[in-house]
Amino acid sequence: MDLKWEKRVMRRRNKIFAASVIATIIILIVIFYRESNHEWKHFQKTYNVKLAEKLNSPDIKNEPLRINQLWLPQLNTTDRCMTCHKGVENPMFVNEPQPFTTHPGDFLKTHSIDKFGCTVCHQGDGQAVTVEATHGAVHHLNRQLLAKEFVQASCVKCHIDLHDNSVTADTFKGIRTFFEGRGLTFQYGCRGCHKIIGEGGSIGPELTGLGSKTELAFMLIHDFEHVEGQHTMGQWIYEHFLNPQKVVPGNPELNFAPTIMPNFGLTPEQARALTIYVLGLRNPKVDAIPYEYISQKRLAQASSKPVR
Ligand code: HEC
Ligand code: HEC
Ligand code: HEC
Ligand code: HEC
Repeated sequence: MDLKWEKRVMRRRNKIFAASVIATIIILIVIFYRESNHEWKHFQKTYNVKLAEKLNSPDIKNEPLRINQLWLPQLNTTDRCMTCHKGVENPMFVNEPQPFTTHPGDFLKTHSIDKFGCTVCHQGDGQAVTVEATHGAVHHLNRQLLAKEFVQASCVKCHIDLHDNSVTADTFKGIRTFFEGRGLTFQYGCRGCHKIIGEGGSIGPELTGLGSKTELAFMLIHDFEHVEGQHTMGQWIYEHFLNPQKVVPGNPELNFAPTIMPNFGLTPEQARALTIYVLGLRNPKVDAIPYEYISQKRLAQASSKPVR
């Protein structure tokens, strides 16, 4: 056989192979791009259709679709949540489903979107524009989205008086669960083993700063094998409260004993309240909230005594 001819065929085959690999990659990128765009565009379009109906102004239906973004260099955030959550400030959407519905409470009145954005309270990946990337479990150098009562773990970043004993659910309305958790830490004597804001023992790990950890930082030093729910820091902590020995059973082969943290027989509600409270134990150096965002009003009202 002609060796030269064979080489030429081989070379041509290699080229065809390389070209098809590149084409496949391009097609995959295009599909991925279209899919991830399709989602938010669909939500925004639906919002516009609903708004057009409510205002009886058909033109709104044809408004161009675009990513709504808020860049807040002071907070080091870029939030695009409003791209899908278009109705948060529109009272006409109060009975609509997510993501269109009006924001509950008056949180966006006391904290204007322009100054605060969303992720300073809700965490999550502000730059992402897909439901999976914003609401799914994150495993990287980011923080899990906080929804429902779990948002209460963020208030302490700026309302530092929430760790003051004189501030209670009666004087600071709307975050009852956080205070419930705070109360339980005294009831069960957690400080006998854990240091919490400068006070407590060292049998267990210090809890101050736990809430400011990224998912990755937590995941690297915790075993998720015995966690049944979503593999996130919040879920690990919650299941650990319900049954510490189930989540940290030790390993007889390696001579590791099960955890000595007592099983307090907590109800799911109590475990949730404690989870919210410990996720609210922040590290100010990590959160890096600028001075103008720290609540002054409440700080002035609080006494300087530590929590008891
Ligand atoms: C691609 C569109 C989209 C983007 C972007 C988006 N969301 Fe959502 N969001 C939804 C949808 C759809 C739901 C309802 C279904 C669900 O919970 O997954 C929802 C639900 C929620 C809920 C309620 C979840 C619950 O468990 O009750 C919160 C809180 C929320 N979003 C906050 C945010 C924040 C904060 C951001 C920005 C970091 C954001 N969303 C970005 C579409 C979006
Ligand atoms: C000052 C803190 C704060 C800011 C800023 C904030 N939220 Fe919220 N958000 C809350 C609290 C607190 C709740 C009520 C949780 C509950 O049900 O107890 C909530 C509830 C929600 C809900 C309803 C579902 C749920 O989990 O209860 C959605 C959706 C939501 N927020 C989206 C947003 C979006 C989008 C932005 C930005 C435009 C935003 N939030 C900004 C604190 C905040
Ligand atoms: C990024 C910082 C920041 C975060 C996070 C934050 N707040 Fe605020 N909040 C402020 C500032 C600043 C004010 C303006 C008034 C002041 O100085 O207290 C304010 C005002 C308020 C007010 C009205 C005034 C008052 O003190 O009675 C309430 C209520 C409130 N915040 C509750 C919350 C709750 C609940 C959360 C958590 C879901 C939260 N805030 C998260 C900074 C923040
Ligand atoms: C007898 C001592 C003891 C008591 C009391 C105790 N713990 Fe623990 N706790 C530990 C030990 C030891 C660990 C480390 C092993 C493990 O993860 O179970 C731990 C782990 C934890 C963790 C995981 C922290 C991390 O960074 O991995 C949290 C959160 C926690 N405890 C909260 C609490 C709370 C809240 C209370 C009170 C309701 C409490 N503990 C009571 C001993 C204790």
